[in-house]
Formats: sequence, structure tokens, C-alpha cells
Amino acid sequence: MLNKFGLWKKPANSSTLRDKIEEIKESPIPEHVAIIMDGNGRWAKKRALPRIAGHHEGMKVVRKTTMLANKLGIKSLTLYAFSTENWKRPKNEVEYIMKLPEEFLGTFLPELIENNVQVKMMGYKDQLPSHTLHAIERAVEETKNNTGLVLNFALNYGSRAEILDAVKQIIKDNKNGILKETELNEEVFSSYLMSSDFSDPDLLIRTSGEIRLSNFMLWQLAYSEFWFTDVLWPDFNEEYFLEAIEAYQKRQRRFGGILS
Ligand code: IPE
Ligand code: IPE
Ligand code: MG
Repeated sequence: MLNKFGLWKKPANSSTLRDKIEEIKESPIPEHVAIIMDGNGRWAKKRALPRIAGHHEGMKVVRKTTMLANKLGIKSLTLYAFSTENWKRPKNEVEYIMKLPEEFLGTFLPELIENNVQVKMMGYKDQLPSHTLHAIERAVEETKNNTGLVLNFALNYGSRAEILDAVKQIIKDNKNGILKETELNEEVFSSYLMSSDFSDPDLLIRTSGEIRLSNFMLWQLAYSEFWFTDVLWPDFNEEYFLEAIEAYQKRQRRFGGILS
């Protein structure tokens, strides 16, 4: 783009975004951001497209969001991609969603590697189709030594089942003498959850106007800051993400105490 003096000028958008990123990086950045990526179906419906078109579009937003999170220096990004309840959906929709990890990683894995992103997954692996699981396990393996952002897919994840399984394992470990009742505390309990490698999310974002958790990280979100938007996931972009981070930076986290 040429400015009025005929000199080369970067399009306003990208430089404004860059400035904004630099500005935001001057204040504390949330270490762990979790996102409930909702609204793909409604996005497609609004355009008279099949629901799966919304899921496909949503995948592109996953890429942009990941790259920005990495640039901002966020340590972990957990994305709710499929819940233990989402199996209730029509077979063709579920089958399509289960193909997305292969497509996503098939296209973006080199870029993730180049950007030092580490891929992880939390959720029940047993019910996943083998092609889905292989794609993820390959990405996990190929990125395991990366030290940048951890991109954690919550796939076939459900928080109530996760908590129940933790309780069952704790009972077993107690019976076997591995864990004494007196040793069980919040930190130890957290270590039995699928999120044991992660700190609790500092910020939770949910798109699409729904104000609920839909069985997502019930234990881990106890003291997280929540940010909701009506924007549908395929329409979510860098500006909205930065808006959420800015809102987070303005919050006062008290954890039950008082500010001196
Ligand atoms: C979120 O979008 C993606 C998944 C749950 C897999 P939805 O598919 O829930 O979209 P809406 O809520 O029907 O619009
Ligand atoms: C939550 O969205 C799950 C994911 C985004 C993966 P849903 O669309 O399944 O949630 P509900 O049914 O509206 O609560
Ligand atoms: Mg939904």
C-alpha cells in the first residue's frame, strides 16, 4: 500500500495488531488460557451451509489463535474440541469432526514445529477412531521436545467423568497403601486429573453467546477469570483474542482475599 507521499506503507491492520500485541505484552499475560470453541453449527446455518462447514472454518481459527497465543508468550492453550456428550450428535457430524485432527495436523504440523509449539491432548482416547488418535499421537511425539506454547486439545473430554475417575483411582491407591487419606489435598487431587501437567487456567473464553461450562474443567476453573462473547467461533479473530486478554489484564484476582 502506498501512502500519500507515494512511500510504501504496511496495511493499517497488521501494524495496529502488532502494536496492540506489544502493548499487551507489557502487562502480565495469562499463563494458561482455555477456550470453549462454540458456535460452528450456527455460523454455518446462518450461511445456509451444512454444520460441518462451520467445523471446517473453525479449524482455521484454531491455527490463528494458536499462533497469536505463542506470540504473546502464553504458556498453555487448552481448546475444547469435542466433549464426552458430543457423541449424541448425528453420525456424519461426529465422523467429520473426528477427521479434523488429521486435516489440521496434516496441514499445520510443520508450522507448529517451526514455531516450537508442543501438542498435547486430554480426553478419553479409547473411544476415538484410530485414525484420529494416530494423527494426534504423531503430533504429540513429533513436538514433544518443543519448548514454546503447549497446545492442548480437549478431545472426548468431560470433566465429571474425569473427576469420577480421579476419585476411583484415589480409592484404589488408598487401598493399596500408595496414598494415605492424610496425604490427599487439593494439589494431590489435581495430579489425578487429565490436566495434571498444567496449571489451572487463568482465563476461560467461550464464544457464541452461551454462558455455561458444558462439562469443561469444573475443578480447574474454580478461580479462573471468565470472558464470554457472542461472536461465533469461526468469526473469532486476533482482535477478539486480544480484547479478551486485555479484559483479563484489567481484572483483580483476589482468590478470596482482599487487596491491600
Ligand atoms: C462447537 O460448535 C464445536 C463442537 C462442539 C464440536 P457447535 O457445533 O457446538 O456449534 P453450535 O453451538 O451448534 O452453533
Ligand atoms: C461445548 O459445546 C463443547 C465444545 C465446544 C467442544 P456444546 O455445543 O457441546 O455445548 P452445549 O451443548 O451447547 O452445552
Ligand atoms: Mg455448541
